[in-house]
Amino acid sequence: MNLKDLYIDFFVSKGHKQIPSSPVVPENDPSVLFNTAGMQPLIPYLTKEKHPYGTRLCDYQKCIRTNDLEEVGDKTHHTFFEMLGNWSLGDYFKEESIAWSFEFLTTILHIPVERLGVTIFAGNEDIPFDQTSFDKWRSLGISEKKIAKTVEDNFWIASDTGPCGSDTEIFYFRSEDEIPDFFDPEDERWVEIWNNVFMEFYKDKEGKITSLPKKNVDTGMGVERTTAILEGVNDNYLSSLWKDIIVLIEEISSLPYEGNEKSMRIIADHIRTAVFIAADPAGIKPSNTDQGYILRRLIRRAIRHARVLGIQIDSDWDLQIANKVIEKYKKYYNELEENRQIVFDVLQNEKIKFNKTLEKGLKEFMRVSKDGDIKGEAAFHLFDTFGFPLELTIELALELGLKVDTEGFYEKFKEHQEKSRTASSGKFKGGLAGNSEVETKYHTATHLLNAALKQVVSKDVHQKGSNITEERMRFDFSCDHKLTDIEKEKVEQLVNEWIREDLPVIRQEMEKQEAIQSGAECMFIEKYPDIVTVYKIGDVSKELCGGPHVEHTGVLGEFKITKEEASSAGVRRIKAVLK
Ligand code: ALA
Repeated sequence: MNLKDLYIDFFVSKGHKQIPSSPVVPENDPSVLFNTAGMQPLIPYLTKEKHPYGTRLCDYQKCIRTNDLEEVGDKTHHTFFEMLGNWSLGDYFKEESIAWSFEFLTTILHIPVERLGVTIFAGNEDIPFDQTSFDKWRSLGISEKKIAKTVEDNFWIASDTGPCGSDTEIFYFRSEDEIPDFFDPEDERWVEIWNNVFMEFYKDKEGKITSLPKKNVDTGMGVERTTAILEGVNDNYLSSLWKDIIVLIEEISSLPYEGNEKSMRIIADHIRTAVFIAADPAGIKPSNTDQGYILRRLIRRAIRHARVLGIQIDSDWDLQIANKVIEKYKKYYNELEENRQIVFDVLQNEKIKFNKTLEKGLKEFMRVSKDGDIKGEAAFHLFDTFGFPLELTIELALELGLKVDTEGFYEKFKEHQEKSRTASSGKFKGGLAGNSEVETKYHTATHLLNAALKQVVSKDVHQKGSNITEERMRFDFSCDHKLTDIEKEKVEQLVNEWIREDLPVIRQEMEKQEAIQSGAECMFIEKYPDIVTVYKIGDVSKELCGGPHVEHTGVLGEFKITKEEASSAGVRRIKAVLK
């Protein structure tokens, strides 16, 4: 059995319910582009919402972290990874969490106790030393020398604000050397494999820390790293998760892995991540902003490295790799199989687009690099005319020992952006979705809009996505035509009528099947657990949704559509505000 199955079985045997992995593009959380940790989709439940599955949960969650995108190419970095997590939502706390982690590692994964070291919170003026964790680890047979105490590294928060708390991290001695008696977390032979966060606080925008209504546990274990450790390889890409993808790249390029590791790892990693982004229900397509830009960068960087390996770019090398990824993961993620064609189209179209200018762009790069460091203007020209993401130019420059004037690039970029569209600034400012009062109102407004579109446009209108900020809501829906002015007006009127009627918003929990039979609207049925939360607004709307919502519609203010446009084939997008 593989790690994921072992993990889920173990925590289910400890009374946890398995919840499905959330989409990799978070819904209604404009503060992050992708889920970066298993806890992200659970934030409302770590604060005040009740989770329909109860208080003990476990899952494997698709995560993407792109801050280290340029580091990919070494033995350990990946842009996409799966995080195993188990949670207590106000249920068990430190002792049980530590005991189960220890039991799983030593009796299920058979890791020798001597190879384990742990860190715990040392204490500061706000929060005392974590005596409970210390005592628990000691009682399990971890010697005092293997327990390190830190302040900075033992307090975990996903972003600037949100649920947080002290943690205990579990390390594994990954080396052939003799295991030292003393555990030093700074010694690179010790690698972190599991993080158990005791989330009992909330940090607000002013940096103030207050207690949460319940004490939670949030844990995270990376599948890639732990698999490599269990298989005794010190290059993650040689573990069973990657090996067959690497072998396929060896076949396609007729080159050995040895000596070509960097490009092969980049291709393997980037195509895998591109597959997961393109197959996500959010329907991301390569573009020059936000998630679309990450997708574009990944595909283009993979193409560039395929070229380095001498792969025939217009052959189907990328689809073969994508296919391998889909085959490997479809058992765990249905959307890969369902969206196989979409993934292929995304890769194919982006390749065609980039291929047109790649050759010329590389020539242009060689030309400008003759004069030394790359000027901002030249980098922008490569971006704008030849479709070279800035990071690609930086990477090419680095290979020649040159620098790129990135500030100059951004100046040009901004100038250009101001001319053509509004910047997506502020994206990372706000921390995790706070579900502020305004955002909560927008959540409820999306349900009203969905219902109004069904009445005015067609009962076949279905939600395809949504995104909420403090300033506006965005709502994507299936529809084969541009809405007429009359339709827009009617939709607006209807939503405002329902707001004026001050309809009650009722939250109910029920079986998924029952919810569907009762006609509740939902976006991706397979994404929901067996017990679901349904929000009913008067008699006008009934939707599966995690919330949060206002209690009655009267508080929403005036609803106004600001824009209606195409989003993708057969999908329209409405932007609207509440005033
Ligand atoms: N949320 C914690 C992490 O990502 C478990 O490390």
